[in-house]
Amino acid sequence: MVSRPKSSFGNWKLKRNIYISFFLFLILGASVLIYLNQREVPIEQVFPGKVWAKPIENLPDLKAVGAPTAKNCGNCHTEIYEEWKRSTHANALSDIQFQSELAKPSSPKWICLNCHIPVQNQRETIITGLKNGDYFRPIEIVNPSFNPEMKAEGVTCASCHVRVDSETKESYVIGGTGGTSPPHPVKIDRKQLLSRCYDCHNETYTLNESLVCSFQTGTELIATKSNESCSSCHQPEVRRSFVKPSLNKPIRRSHKHGFIGGGVPKSFELYSDQIRLGYKPGIVLSNIKVENNTVELTLTNTNADHHVTTGDPERFYRLTLTGLNKKGNIVFKEETTIGQEWSWSPSAKKVSDSRIPSGKNFVWTLEQKDPLIESFLFQAVHVRLKDKTSDYMILSSSNLSSPYKEKVEKMKDLYPHSSIIIESIYQLKTKNRKDTPLEELFRRNIQRKGE
Ligand code: HEC
Ligand code: HEC
Ligand code: HEC
Ligand code: HEC
Ligand code: HEC
Repeated sequence: MVSRPKSSFGNWKLKRNIYISFFLFLILGASVLIYLNQREVPIEQVFPGKVWAKPIENLPDLKAVGAPTAKNCGNCHTEIYEEWKRSTHANALSDIQFQSELAKPSSPKWICLNCHIPVQNQRETIITGLKNGDYFRPIEIVNPSFNPEMKAEGVTCASCHVRVDSETKESYVIGGTGGTSPPHPVKIDRKQLLSRCYDCHNETYTLNESLVCSFQTGTELIATKSNESCSSCHQPEVRRSFVKPSLNKPIRRSHKHGFIGGGVPKSFELYSDQIRLGYKPGIVLSNIKVENNTVELTLTNTNADHHVTTGDPERFYRLTLTGLNKKGNIVFKEETTIGQEWSWSPSAKKVSDSRIPSGKNFVWTLEQKDPLIESFLFQAVHVRLKDKTSDYMILSSSNLSSPYKEKVEKMKDLYPHSSIIIESIYQLKTKNRKDTPLEELFRRNIQRKGE
């Protein structure tokens, strides 16, 4: 037998089939890719167990109140409303620094808004999922219950106090007292109210290499084994009626709602309320010791059951010691800081941390040999925003639109960066120490600019 060679026709057919399969495979591959890229992934799947990944669901009108806006609550809870209105919470959306950071192209805006305007009624759109699980590609539909007035309210009353009953689908108020007679539905759950703070103030999450959220105030508090809650210090007690006098309700144990923190408010106008609404520095200058040629200053975290500074990593204390001669002229000056250092590139990383845990000391020892020194002036400044950061914000203000663009351009004049929180003069000869009263420091803080 002689074998016949395969015809070239058969060869061509085989090649054609290979080409067709390859082509079909390509189309299939591309379709799978397109499908994957466009498919809607539920938010819970991308951020499992994260409370901040979703806003609180749309709240229907509250019986006897109407829309659950802070302004409406304020119709009866007048004093609480006035205090809250001056809090950082009420300014959480209008904050110039927040607006500036939100406008960065690298900000996943909807995530930021989940903590800064946390109720769905405050949002124009509802996010139904993420394209291919990508947090930069949220899928949005129009929110029929959007309330623009409520949007402006930042961390509004309802973020902590109003929820929807899963059976009746009606809104109710969460209270912490009981035995009261409100016209609106109320359920008493003080524990839930008090633990709400942790949802926003206790999160460490690395979104990508340059976006890290690092607030550990809750963990710091738990580590001290303190029995206090965040509210024990940030909502000081006061006896009063919960509502305006004309409603004739009894005097009860109430809580200030100014949520004062580090004593650097969001506008100069708010300085005058800091002490009234409960500001106290976390650190105390517990000792000044001058021996031979060394000065030893001890600062103790006496008043906070968490680290100071806490929360935002940019915060720090700047300590200055100035030596003055007989005439009051400066002959010696040194500075140090207490805070965290982060390096942001190539990726965010904590480099050092000298913050003071609750109850602990920070000892600053300095050498000085100048015989002309007669007294020392010590100052502690709490810095919320560095000059370098606000310079950068001004430079990139073109990302913003009106009115925030104009505000950021003028932010050196509009936005407090820091506050003096301790000042003390120590006379070497008499060992006499004189502390400037906090009220006076805060009157001066209104006039200060920058870091
Ligand atoms: C029409 C008046 C009115 C409006 C509007 C109103 N409240 Fe009240 N609320 C009351 C009265 C009255 C009480 C009971 C005071 C008392 O008995 O001492 C009360 C009690 C409360 C309590 C305490 C309940 C407890 O026992 O701990 C909370 C919390 C509360 N209201 C929150 C809100 C919030 C949040 C809003 C807005 C969404 C709101 N209220 C709107 C009148 C009002
Ligand atoms: C829905 C999220 C959320 C919840 C819940 C929440 N906070 Fe806040 N809080 C914020 C945001 C956001 C800011 C800062 C806003 C800004 O600086 O623009 C803030 C700021 C503060 C500040 C001011 C810090 C300063 O130095 O100005 C204090 C104090 C504070 N919160 C305490 C509390 C306490 C106490 C609770 C619980 C009763 C609580 N927060 C619950 C989001 C929240
Ligand atoms: C960040 C969370 C938060 C926000 C925002 C908030 N509250 Fe409260 N509120 C609390 C907590 C926590 C308590 C209970 C404190 C306790 O019992 O120790 C409370 C208590 C109350 C009470 C009971 C009386 C009292 O003073 O203890 C009323 C009334 C009240 N809040 C009304 C309001 C109103 C009105 C607003 C908005 C103008 C508001 N709250 C905003 C957390 C919040
Ligand atoms: C024993 C009182 C106490 C308790 C409890 C407490 N704080 Fe504070 N907190 C303070 C004091 C005092 C300061 C002011 C620190 C400073 O600036 O010197 C402060 C500052 C802050 C600040 C501003 C950041 C800063 O570094 O100034 C935030 C935010 C804050 N606290 C949140 C919380 C939260 C959230 C909780 C609960 C997890 C809490 N605090 C529990 C006393 C307390
Ligand atoms: C998990 C909740 C949460 C998310 C998400 C969140 N924030 Fe905040 N933000 C807070 C809290 C709480 C504070 C107050 C912390 C403090 O004062 O120590 C705050 C404070 C701030 C401040 C003020 C800092 C200061 O020192 O005054 C800015 C600016 C800010 N956030 C921007 C953003 C941006 C931009 C995003 C999105 C990339 C974002 N936040 C996402 C909770 C959140």
